[in-house]
Amino acid sequence: MCGIFAYLNYCVPRTRKEIFETLVKGLRRLEYRGYDSAGIAVDGDKKTTTEDNSKIVLIKKKGKVKALDEELYKKDCMDLEVELDTHFGIAHTRWATHGEPSALNSHPQRSDKNNAFVVIHNGIITNYKELKKYLNSKGYEFESETDTEVIPKLIKYVYDNREKEDLSFSTLVERVIQQLEGAFALVFKSHYFPGEAVATRRGSPLLIGVRSKYELSAEHIPIQYNSGLFKEGIEQDKNSHNRPDKPDNSTAVNSVGDGKAVEYYFASDASAIIEHTNKVIYLEDDDIAAVVGGKLSLHRLNSLAGENPVRAIQTLQMELQEIMKGNFEAFMQKEIFEQPESVFNTMRGRICFHTNKVILGGLKDHLKEIKRCRRLIVIGCGTSFHAAVATRQILEELTELPVMVELASDFLDRNTPVFRDDVCFYISQSGETADTLMALRYCKDRGALTVGVTNTVGSSISRDTDCGVHINAGPEIGVASTKAYTSQFVALIMFGLMMSEDRISLQPRRLEIINGLRILPDMIKKVLTLDNKIKSIADELYQQKSLLVMGRGFNYATCLEGALKIKEITYMHSEGILAGELKHGPLALIDKHMPVIMIIMKDACYTKCQNALQQVTARSGRPIILCCQDDQEMSKNAYKTIELPHTVDCLQGILSVIPLQLLSFHLAVLRGYDVDCPRNLAKSVTVE
Ligand code: G6P
Repeated sequence: MCGIFAYLNYCVPRTRKEIFETLVKGLRRLEYRGYDSAGIAVDGDKKTTTEDNSKIVLIKKKGKVKALDEELYKKDCMDLEVELDTHFGIAHTRWATHGEPSALNSHPQRSDKNNAFVVIHNGIITNYKELKKYLNSKGYEFESETDTEVIPKLIKYVYDNREKEDLSFSTLVERVIQQLEGAFALVFKSHYFPGEAVATRRGSPLLIGVRSKYELSAEHIPIQYNSGLFKEGIEQDKNSHNRPDKPDNSTAVNSVGDGKAVEYYFASDASAIIEHTNKVIYLEDDDIAAVVGGKLSLHRLNSLAGENPVRAIQTLQMELQEIMKGNFEAFMQKEIFEQPESVFNTMRGRICFHTNKVILGGLKDHLKEIKRCRRLIVIGCGTSFHAAVATRQILEELTELPVMVELASDFLDRNTPVFRDDVCFYISQSGETADTLMALRYCKDRGALTVGVTNTVGSSISRDTDCGVHINAGPEIGVASTKAYTSQFVALIMFGLMMSEDRISLQPRRLEIINGLRILPDMIKKVLTLDNKIKSIADELYQQKSLLVMGRGFNYATCLEGALKIKEITYMHSEGILAGELKHGPLALIDKHMPVIMIIMKDACYTKCQNALQQVTARSGRPIILCCQDDQEMSKNAYKTIELPHTVDCLQGILSVIPLQLLSFHLAVLRGYDVDCPRNLAKSVTVE
């Protein structure tokens, strides 16, 4: 959803053109999150006003960042070659919630016609109506339909009514956020405070990258783990997942910079920062970060004097190439083909294939408590929910506990009873999905142990849970999730293996699964060689309106996930159907025209799936069957087969989902759609 990027250069001369390029590049890195308009605010050329301040210029545009970029160079009132020694520019991509996509509703939003204060915002202000009413009554006029606009108006109101107080920019912001309810990440710019920046967050991520050729003159304070961040670590391979949530190479600070040349990058997402610096500070809820005279300092909302927070300067491990498309047509395609490595990275340093030990460092201290629990509740949305469905059966088998899988929104709607002896898992690629986060808070309030399974270090879910697992799949940019799914799948299986380590009766099963995991990356490579065949199937199907995907048991989740991929990016109607339910409705859809994909693998459901196949073929259905290699029986009955290598039943879903990921990709390309940015969808859904 919305994306924040801002850039402050202090005593680092940059031409206005370079500043534009940096801001636009930042926005481009955030495009994948989904948006429908974009805007920036920069200082204009010096005006001889009474205060001799540069007037802030706002440039906003509906549509793509590219359109905004073109617009920037049309502003002949601004000298692009002028060098600015110190400057602060802010930029935003907006995904419409309050008010249609339009230049007026896009951010930055402003305090008044003079652009005295401008603000970019991610999240939703839930009490904006009350604030708007109040500000209206004080004579402030609103121009947009957004909830955000109350923020610049409110800061102007506080500024206008400061009487004789000499309020700093960060104090003004503090007074504003005291009045705000809801979720936000905010970056403020003001012409009253040239060259200064203030940023804050509550419930929406925000981080600050720092780049300086000088040693950062940070105050050195003993390193602390931030509470709630997963503490990874494993005996066999200590360095293999030396990630930024493990701040052993970081410095804890409450201020940075001391007037020497420095650049700061503010962003809602690390991928917009990584090409500039890998030194970052993640803000926590109610932190207020202010840059004055090139020095960044952190304050807490409502803190007493001297009570300043300590945050780690962390080193991002992300590589630039991870967020570049390379030779692929789309990020989604790249991410599908990355799966041999991404599932390997999920297992790296956690499974020892010599001793058959599985250790998830972020869970090991809580294992006893988890083993004593009454049930596991696994909660997620979209693809992440499907990862829970996919692993439910094996988790029940390996943990011998009842496992509930829940869609976060429905779980909340039902006010589901949750108890102190429940263990609740939150599966989320982004770690920011609003419904999943709300479900986390709901269960925390009821005393359950909370476990995060995320792909985003420093995300709200990885911070707010008691413990957890980072899936280490690497950045996922395509809106349609692919490699995160298979890595979530593997992470949950590893949890099951860890839980069953001392169950003698389960050892043969554990061994079988561990051996399956060992060769999984190679198996995935084999599946990926089917790409051409799948493309030829897509050539036949791409003009269809509908596509049904059927299966059961360990492969039911593949049907749900495959159908979701198809509808997300091809806009075809697609349904994942439990083959056991065929007779209870879906059979009515079958005729010789309806495209059907069936997943029939050699597992405990094989015979039942064959029955379903008979029912489909008896109605003149012409199924494309995903089956095990050399399954003659299937070749006889299918219109076409896609033959997959055979693996352990509970891992087969990792292999069977890949042809459907590839199929949806090819269908979307053939139908002429933007694979990575499907209409109406966002990568990170931060609103309920
Ligand atoms: C959005 C994305 C999906 C994703 C879902 C859950 O709908 O488009 O790809 O599966 O959110 O996101 P999460 O980050 O919590 O896994």
